[in-house]
Amino acid sequence: MIRIRPTRPCDAPALPGVERSSGDIFRGWAGLEWIADDDVQSEERHRALIADGVAFVAEAAGFGIAAFLNGTVTADALHLWQVAVHRDWQGRGLGRQLIEAAQRHAADHGVPSLTLTTFRDVPWNEPYYRRLGFVTLGDGQIDPRLRAVLDAEARAGLPIAQRCAMRKHL
Ligand SMILES: CC(C)(COP(=O)(O)OP(=O)(O)OC[C@H]1O[C@@H](n2cnc3c(N)ncnc32)[C@H](O)[C@@H]1OP(=O)(O)O)[C@@H](O)C(=O)NCCC(=O)NCCS
Repeated sequence: MIRIRPTRPCDAPALPGVERSSGDIFRGWAGLEWIADDDVQSEERHRALIADGVAFVAEAAGFGIAAFLNGTVTADALHLWQVAVHRDWQGRGLGRQLIEAAQRHAADHGVPSLTLTTFRDVPWNEPYYRRLGFVTLGDGQIDPRLRAVLDAEARAGLPIAQRCAMRKHL
């Protein structure tokens, strides 16, 4: 049984391990294998987003925390910083349920859209979010906030030509 609930501070120590496990899926994707060993959000970052942002976990009976999502409310959107599902739980709808929870939270708080940045073309990234109703933004549609997110990713070493920004209007 899966329960989607807001993340609590006591969950923070478990979350970097969930993200590390989620990244394993990239080992099979030519050119991006290194993402599997890339840095993950720190426990401190999780605590900050639990306190000041939006954070949900998927808790599985007999397992513990199987997935998490976090984000920040901005002037025009709930921006999702991370969605991560433990490798053993991928493909069972947990990602979809977490995004639906974020969407409900945004709608309940009068936030008109969700935004995120992700890898173009990777099946569990851009095409996946498209199926969930996100639209890939063209250059002219990327506002200064999202441009700054992409710029920071470039500085952190992500291959920027392979990144895209997406938005879902609610
Ligand atoms: C992306 C992620 C959050 C999706 O969560 P999930 O619970 O596995 O997703 P769901 O069960 O809701 O849906 C699985 C989808 O992923 C796609 N997918 C998963 N693994 C895949 C694979 N190896 N190859 C192709 N597609 C795959 C499926 O097509 C499926 O989409 P569909 O149901 O619309 O057909 C999760 O796979 C994950 O943690 N990935 C690694 C980290 C990551 O990329 N995070 C997103 C950063 S923007």
